[in-house]
Amino acid sequence: MEQVQEQQAFGMPRIGEAAPQFKAVTTQGEINFPSDYKGSWAILFSHPADFTPVCTSEFMTFATLEDKFAEANCKLIGLSVDGLYSHIAWLRTIKEKIEYKGMKDVEVKFPLIEDITMEVAKKYGMMMPGESNTKAVRAVFFVDPKGIIRAIIYYPLSLGRNFDELYRALIAMQTADAFSIATPADWTPGDDVIISPAGSCGTAKDRMDGKEEGLECKDWFFCTKKLDKETVLKTVLKK
Ligand code: BEZ
Repeated sequence: MEQVQEQQAFGMPRIGEAAPQFKAVTTQGEINFPSDYKGSWAILFSHPADFTPVCTSEFMTFATLEDKFAEANCKLIGLSVDGLYSHIAWLRTIKEKIEYKGMKDVEVKFPLIEDITMEVAKKYGMMMPGESNTKAVRAVFFVDPKGIIRAIIYYPLSLGRNFDELYRALIAMQTADAFSIATPADWTPGDDVIISPAGSCGTAKDRMDGKEEGLECKDWFFCTKKLDKETVLKTVLKK
């Protein structure tokens, strides 16, 4: 019984599952997640606490990149277990007082969820008691336009996230969906992409015999093809 309660409190959704639903109060009004975000990608991310330095650097960075994510049809939603007035005060302080790495006068326009009850944080496995009982860790959930969780990344309290990597992951997943391919290590648009491994001995042989045009095969199970940057950007970013 205790174990079940613990799982409900600290379980986490998984990749490929529907994003758990919730209604929340945010700095931009009430939201229903994921239904309000149908048709867009969404990045739901938690941070440990307002008025803390790592979180402040992250919020300034994410707010500065918000338009870039919007161009990729992706909306941002933050969360911490602080209350609404703390959120408002912190975001006002960021805009009015904080200058960091050339960023200043930064307005956080995306919603920041108040979650004093930890209801959402527990539903999404953002509380990790081994790290902290009172603060959410730095969790990142990528949710696709159909409300399915597509990727999850976790960082500890002390480690600020790499937002270039979050953007790269988003574009890579969108590219994989659009072209039915996979992306290799460190892929960025313009790099070769990976096609599905051969599903039969015949296909494996054909590929190794060079019968499938446009493929470069390291071995029968590892074939890549070109996908130029312009095609990716035109498809994913509609540019
Ligand atoms: C920070 O954002 O600076 C921070 C928050 C919680 C623990 C450690 C650092």
